[in-house]
Amino acid sequence: MITELPGQRDAALHAAESLHGLALELDLRDPAQAARCVANVVDRFGQLEVLVNNAGVVIRKPALELTVEDWDAVQDVNLRGAFFLAQAAAKVMTSRRTGRIVNIASIFGLVGGPNRAAYSASKGGLVNLTRSLAVEWAPFNVQVNAVAPNVTRTPMTEKLLSDPDAVDAITTGTPAGRLTTAEDVGEAVAWLAVSAPAYITGVTLPVDGGWTAK
Ligand SMILES: NC(=O)c1ccc[n+]([C@@H]2O[C@H](COP(=O)([O-])OP(=O)(O)OC[C@H]3O[C@@H](n4cnc5c(N)ncnc54)[C@H](O)[C@@H]3O)[C@@H](O)[C@H]2O)c1
Repeated sequence: MITELPGQRDAALHAAESLHGLALELDLRDPAQAARCVANVVDRFGQLEVLVNNAGVVIRKPALELTVEDWDAVQDVNLRGAFFLAQAAAKVMTSRRTGRIVNIASIFGLVGGPNRAAYSASKGGLVNLTRSLAVEWAPFNVQVNAVAPNVTRTPMTEKLLSDPDAVDAITTGTPAGRLTTAEDVGEAVAWLAVSAPAYITGVTLPVDGGWTAK
């Protein structure tokens, strides 16, 4: 994680402490930091069973206005960063012949949407990266899957969801009639990371109240 959002660092430290875990700071844009992060985990715990590639950024603006910097800023975290962290983790997992990776994609990795060209491309890339890594690492008993959440109330969507019309459009457009919750996503991730059959690999599971089923 990085510390740009107020309170996140403390929350991560607190969560790690209460779980007897380890909180490490990482700028995902730097593959060397990703590799060091994995090495620190292995030093501390002697193994690495699960990676959840959750970090992500969004830039919402019309495609005609996207700059090179905008494009790179999104891909560098959502796609390039996720790949190099997965690669570092999988070096450990494939050698131990066990491991699970869960990538956090998005409904906008499965369908298009306005004002999200860089984000949709990164998440669509992550969906297909999930398939490719699953194919390569299945022989090593490493499963790679993804979840694709619908819009969820988090700091990423605070501005978007401050508009009641936007909330209304999303909830009425979602067959389940509500936004996704962090619990919806967390339960799906926990299932894929821990209890799903190992024969399931390369899939992207929508967690979207039926939004992409329409
Ligand atoms: N909120 C939604 O509606 C929604 C919907 C679908 C998918 N997602 C995805 O869920 C994931 C979590 O997003 P969120 O909604 O909790 O957003 P958020 O903005 O609350 O959290 C994003 C996290 O990514 C971290 N991050 C950003 N750049 C980083 C970097 N360079 N290195 C390391 N960490 C970095 C931030 O520090 C933050 O902890 C993202 O991948 C996002 O694309 C979110």
